[in-house]
Amino acid sequence: MDKTDKIAIAAGNWKMNMLPSEVSTFFNEYMSKANTLEKTIFCVPYIDIPAAISAVKNTPIEIYAQNFYYEPKGAYTGEVSLDMLKDADVTGVVIGHSERRDIFGETNETINKKVLAAKAAGMKIILCVGESEHTREINAHHAWIEYQVLSALEGITDTKDIIIAYEPIWAIGTGKTASAEDAQDMCKFIDYVLHKYYNSFEAVPILYGGSVNEKNAAELFAQSSIDGGLVGGASLVAEKFAQIRNA
Ligand code: PGA
Repeated sequence: MDKTDKIAIAAGNWKMNMLPSEVSTFFNEYMSKANTLEKTIFCVPYIDIPAAISAVKNTPIEIYAQNFYYEPKGAYTGEVSLDMLKDADVTGVVIGHSERRDIFGETNETINKKVLAAKAAGMKIILCVGESEHTREINAHHAWIEYQVLSALEGITDTKDIIIAYEPIWAIGTGKTASAEDAQDMCKFIDYVLHKYYNSFEAVPILYGGSVNEKNAAELFAQSSIDGGLVGGASLVAEKFAQIRNA
């Protein structure tokens, strides 16, 4: 995406962390330390949604869900629908995170169904893609990412409100951040793939994710093809995430 607007997108992914009773204290501290509340997203556990929505009321901060089921309603014990999330004022969803692919067996087909359902429901989307260490070692990472992006977006007729997060699996939660050059190379490649197949569509912001922290964020966000970060561990500490926001 062309970087005319220099504010990076800072998206926090709390994963299965943060008690509902901790949410309001977190946001009080975060908001007192962040220089701007623009272009900021928190992807929170379902149970934290009401507290998070209430804490960010009247601010530009957006609350996304980390998951949902793509069917509209019915006998799906344990699942949450897009309509339920919308009714709770959630504006977006994460789809295709490597933890959902690897631990919960989500396939490219499931991910495509989720993308189509979220799009039809008018939900914003952070679509995650990323290669394993082995895929990178055998130098198949570009082809792998191209396949993940294209299969997730199959049937999509516009890319409005879609963000893609490039998250190499070997960098997630490991402290092993991709170098700024490698992250830039892959985000640029995703941009190229999108241009090749969806030339007439709206530009898609591309985030880097994988051990982003308050020390490496500025260098990563300064890369011309990186529009921001999807941040796991460091988004749980208000002060650290504010420093990333301010990078
Ligand atoms: P991490 O997680 O920042 O803890 O590596 C990133 C993610 O999984 O989105």
